[in-house]
Amino acid sequence: MGKLTRFGVSVNSDLLVKFDSVLKNQNYSTRSKAIEDFMRQTIVNCELSNDSSQVVGSINIIYDHHRRELLGKLTDIQHDFQAIILSSHHIHLGHHNCFEAIIVKGEKKSIEELASKIKSTKGVKNSTLRLIPL
Ligand code: NI
Repeated sequence: MGKLTRFGVSVNSDLLVKFDSVLKNQNYSTRSKAIEDFMRQTIVNCELSNDSSQVVGSINIIYDHHRRELLGKLTDIQHDFQAIILSSHHIHLGHHNCFEAIIVKGEKKSIEELASKIKSTKGVKNSTLRLIPL
């Protein structure tokens, strides 16, 4: 980890007032910590814009387990992508719905392909993909 470096920043005063208000709402105690977090997030976003980036993350879905053949289809898709799936966690939500978190690691492009195949399967009601670069 590098040493701390001080640098001066000039910004519009109205922008700074709004920024400080947001920092207060997000419980930041110093501007330095907030700016560090925003810098890291900018770097992460840049890394995530590269299809060949190595990433880890999760695909989270809610689906109707009464829909015929859906479970088989989801299982078939996951077997096709077993090289990038580390684990999956299934939770029964009430009588109709199931929640599944599929933990993935690998090339971003492959993970997005898996996520889009799952998302577009009939009976999948909601789907999110969250990725963090390695
Ligand atoms: Ni279930």
